Amino acid sequence: MLRRLNHVAIAVPDLDAAVALYRDTLGTAVSAPLDLPDHGVTVVFVDLPGSKVELLHPLTDRSPIAAFLSRHPQGGLHHVCYEVEDLGEACERLVKAGLRVSDGGRPKVGAHGRPVVFLHPKDVAGTLIELEEVRSDNADPELGEK
Ligand code: CO
Repeated sequence: MLRRLNHVAIAVPDLDAAVALYRDTLGTAVSAPLDLPDHGVTVVFVDLPGSKVELLHPLTDRSPIAAFLSRHPQGGLHHVCYEVEDLGEACERLVKAGLRVSDGGRPKVGAHGRPVVFLHPKDVAGTLIELEEVRSDNADPELGEK
């Protein structure tokens, strides 16, 4: 069911410092910050060959990332995102298996304009999982796939 690792998301308390770290010290290409009000975050994409890292910073105090940072003040791994071919089918299978899927398994549009859901960390080995639908006929052109 799972396909490629799409991205790893890291919550950061200081976005400018994290951008400087990835761009200047670690030598990666980083995007301009993008505000995603529906998700309560500002995101910066770190481009890597074949994958990416997302640096997440809370947009407001009510952001889920603000809650995460209050528990992890230095920041840390927030979630990993795997691609699936058919998210509706994946949700049905996971709900049937007893896993908690966000919004009752009804996908929301995620940071890349594609449908996503989240799986509760307590059901999946302690790390929040995002599933993103990437149809094999509609892969990310940035990553040079077919
Ligand atoms: Co994500």
